Amino acid sequence: MLVDKTILLVIGGGIAAFKALELIRRLRELGAKVIPVLTSAGAEFVTPLSVSALAASPVHTDLFDLTNEAEMGHIELSRCADLVVVCPATADFLAKMATGLANDLASTLLLATDKPVLIAPAMNVRMWNHPATVRNVEMLRHDGILFVGPNRGEMACGEFGEGRLAEPAEIVSAIEVSFLGDKLAGKRVLVTSGPTFEPIDPVRYLANRSSGAQGAEIARALVMQGAEVVFVTGPAEVAPPAGVKLVSVETAVQMAAAVRDELPVDVAIFAAAVADWRVKKAATGKIKKTQGGTPPSLDFTENPDILATTSKMKSGRPKLVIGFAAETENVEENAIAKRLRKGCDWILANDVSPKAGIMGGTENAVTLISHEGLERWPRLSKAEVAVRLADQIHKALLS
Ligand code: C5P
Repeated sequence: MLVDKTILLVIGGGIAAFKALELIRRLRELGAKVIPVLTSAGAEFVTPLSVSALAASPVHTDLFDLTNEAEMGHIELSRCADLVVVCPATADFLAKMATGLANDLASTLLLATDKPVLIAPAMNVRMWNHPATVRNVEMLRHDGILFVGPNRGEMACGEFGEGRLAEPAEIVSAIEVSFLGDKLAGKRVLVTSGPTFEPIDPVRYLANRSSGAQGAEIARALVMQGAEVVFVTGPAEVAPPAGVKLVSVETAVQMAAAVRDELPVDVAIFAAAVADWRVKKAATGKIKKTQGGTPPSLDFTENPDILATTSKMKSGRPKLVIGFAAETENVEENAIAKRLRKGCDWILANDVSPKAGIMGGTENAVTLISHEGLERWPRLSKAEVAVRLADQIHKALLS
């Protein structure tokens, strides 16, 4: 997919710089040519030798390197690629970019380039959330800079939060999407994602193992194709992607109301793992253990089926309604029946049995079911599934 594409990869400082090596490997596997640029801080974490060996290209480090300048001047270097990627981008680098500083090779290239720029930030959570960084990121987005990540999670410094570098697979798919362009500009797309939490009492709830990863990837791929994305999410593990209109909910009933409020849309994708039932009347106080040890009995009622309701709308129905069928057995058979029962246009069927390792994992093996039949996709990263889906949506909206 990246054959004939040249990527100028700026590797900034930070412990996450080692992931840039994996990124180079993946990009080259996909046929891209990688021209690496290593900042002096980056060179503290990865060596020029490993970078150039993996990239099969000399690594550029110095603005005033006369040998390199003789071969390819820094202005020419800034224009030689189809895309400039900064991975990892430190808070310092973002600040430099936002203010237009050009005091080393990397920042000079960024200021001189006329090519699209994709940034993969990585830093401590407090640095990422600092008003100065928030301001810089906002400014850069306004300037048309693309972002991938950062993700939420454990950090090298021992803290937890948003600031982890996006995984190489996610960066690759963001790169792929950046080449897809603005195909979905002007389209409004709704994505539901994550689990729902259904209260039993003020402290207990029923939930499921959905991480929200696939929904977040889909929303990210759509944003990167220029769609206006409304992201209605339950309490998911993964951070919502940047650039969406975020609507956070907890229960299925809240999710149904949020979806209703956000219609009309051109496309609706229901990736949330919505609880089928809720406790009819959640207790207002914490349910106590009884003396005899008899467990409480819970009275359930069915939750609204958001996908079916949207699919069966008489007026104002989205042009394309897409559902998921997470099944543990007879996956395709059940999914075909589900598509008809729910009335949606497409179903993405996947095997969520523990042996498939999909629920909570980074990969997905999907079969796309439409009125035209079945299309089995190979096992792909969730990010790659999202890119494919965005591509299919684009094609469907054209026809
Ligand atoms: O019936 P089942 O839960 O297997 O259907 C899965 C599909 O339906 C998913 O796309 C899910 O997001 C959607 N769904 C929904 N509202 C529900 C239950 C499922 O939108 N209450």
